[in-house]
Amino acid sequence: MKVLGIVGSRRKNGNTSYLVQQALDSIECKEIETKLVFLSDYNIKGCTGCEGCKDTYKCVITDDMQKLYPLILEADAIITGSPTYFYNITADMKAFIERLYCFQVFAEDDRSVWSSINEALGGKYAVVIAICEQNDKKDMGFTAEAMSKPLEGLGYRVVETVKILKLFKKEDSLKNQDALEEVKRAGEKLKKTMILRKETKEKFKSY
Ligand SMILES: Cc1cc2nc3c(=O)[nH]c(=O)nc-3n(C[C@H](O)[C@H](O)[C@H](O)COP(=O)(O)O)c2cc1C
Repeated sequence: MKVLGIVGSRRKNGNTSYLVQQALDSIECKEIETKLVFLSDYNIKGCTGCEGCKDTYKCVITDDMQKLYPLILEADAIITGSPTYFYNITADMKAFIERLYCFQVFAEDDRSVWSSINEALGGKYAVVIAICEQNDKKDMGFTAEAMSKPLEGLGYRVVETVKILKLFKKEDSLKNQDALEEVKRAGEKLKKTMILRKETKEKFKSY
């Protein structure tokens, strides 16, 4: 099985990078491979709403998101991490999520009926990590929800949403034991969920 960590901060050695990596480290095992990507290494434009993906589920924009689609499709779970930028996710994370639109499927005659490629493939899992500087959760705004809501719509069950406050400087997360514990716990929960699903699949075959 595979888990893809996706970092929406441009500070490669900042808080989001460190905490997403820590979550991945708590998952890596014989059964699960992990990989981390920094969205800042990719040139990803926002969705244009052209509907060019409607029949093929493939985005027609020829930018670096094309390099990420295969990684997303082969991952059984993803961990998205973003710092709060003005009460919301970063522009990089927003563009990345918009471009997952090609995996959402709507009924021809009724836009209120939808599914997704992930649901068609049996469902996937996600963990969401949101990080902000302020002490009060309200100053984190919609950061966590701006990731979890679209991911749920795209057929990812969000098994854990981690909200970490009071991290400002790049190295703040290194000194924050509680933050470290929280992301590790979320990673371990994701790992257990994935293993439970695998075991259930094997057991159900012989039912
Ligand atoms: C453009 C910008 C906007 C920000 N907006 C907020 C905000 O609305 N609320 C908040 O608590 N922190 C805000 N911050 C602080 C960052 O969320 C915080 O420094 C975080 O730890 C950065 O994560 P990183 O090290 O992974 O880049 C903002 C920082 C920047 C650069």
